[in-house]
Amino acid sequence: MPTLILTTNPGIEDIAADEARHVLGAKVVEVKTGLGRAVVEVSEENVELVDRLASIHRALLLLAKGSVCGERECLADVKSVIEESGVIDFLVPYGSFAVRVNRVGEHSFRSLDVASVVGEAVIEAAKARRGWRPRVDLDYPSTVVHVDVIHSEVLVSIELGGELSWHRRGYRVYDHPAALKPTLAYAMLILSGARDGDHIIDPMCGGGTVAIEAAYMFEHSKLTCMDMNPRHIAGAKLNAKAALVYPRIRFVVGDARRLSSFIEEADVLVSNPPYGIRLGSPRQVRRVYRDFLTEATKIIRKSITIITPEHRFASKVLEELGWKIMHERRVAHGNLYPHILVATP
Ligand SMILES: C[S@@+](CC[C@H](N)C(=O)[O-])C[C@H]1O[C@@H](n2cnc3c(N)ncnc32)[C@H](O)[C@@H]1O
Repeated sequence: MPTLILTTNPGIEDIAADEARHVLGAKVVEVKTGLGRAVVEVSEENVELVDRLASIHRALLLLAKGSVCGERECLADVKSVIEESGVIDFLVPYGSFAVRVNRVGEHSFRSLDVASVVGEAVIEAAKARRGWRPRVDLDYPSTVVHVDVIHSEVLVSIELGGELSWHRRGYRVYDHPAALKPTLAYAMLILSGARDGDHIIDPMCGGGTVAIEAAYMFEHSKLTCMDMNPRHIAGAKLNAKAALVYPRIRFVVGDARRLSSFIEEADVLVSNPPYGIRLGSPRQVRRVYRDFLTEATKIIRKSITIITPEHRFASKVLEELGWKIMHERRVAHGNLYPHILVATP
């Protein structure tokens, strides 16, 4: 059975593995928690379904595994893993390739050194066995060779389905300055426990990522996307049109600190409130969080799920309001490590 390395946002690897189990019937081999990778085995006929996964950034077909020590001299071992991997069978005749390296751990070589050894090994192997020299094209390669050097482990794989990272789904025609990755939005919706038919709201919805992902996941749910900034709501509408889910979502311009005056009740709230970097003082951010959560707990029946670096403060407020934190996890988001909190009444 082909082995796939699914890459995702660090912190939601288990969610990607679960989705692969359900959608592809995959067997989960390893969940590399914190490294943004899950390794799964999938039957030949289900490999092509991989582009249905909403929780992954990329899918890589694993070709070979090997090991390497941390010293520069050991880069020769990486070269022999490449030679044995059969990677050249995936090169397009007279086409181009690029090497992408993901290195974790202490080594006396850099990722660039690995890329250069791998690039040379690919060219030599292609010349020797196929009689032509592939071109290196870092921008628009026909084949992408991935090399993961994770401590002493080396994994060689090629990328399936082109290089466009799948979290940049085609619908993002309006680029909100603080947009959430669709993969994180999907993970939050899963963690929220939302069911098809629930009324799901995002009262600080920006470019509408959560509402759009929810529209893809749930056929019968009522969806509301609210933001106090009319420009973002106009952008969210454009995104929803590009995603072909516009009629499914209700758009509201409104202030989440007065949520109950815009929305009477809903089942589930999933949101990415401002992190506060642009709002200035932490006191001001916390005031917004307190007012927003106080209002949210008045109208939400089932769960509130938020992603925030203000997780301690938000948990404290939710607990003061009599809600329980049912789940909490740290995820990577850009160069920050916010937490996803799930609270229930
Ligand atoms: C981090 S962004 C959300 C990004 C969104 N998840 C996306 O993917 O595009 C936070 C949003 O909260 C909005 N916002 C801030 N304070 C608000 C408030 N009191 N009521 C409603 N929206 C608010 C901002 O206008 C901003 O669009």
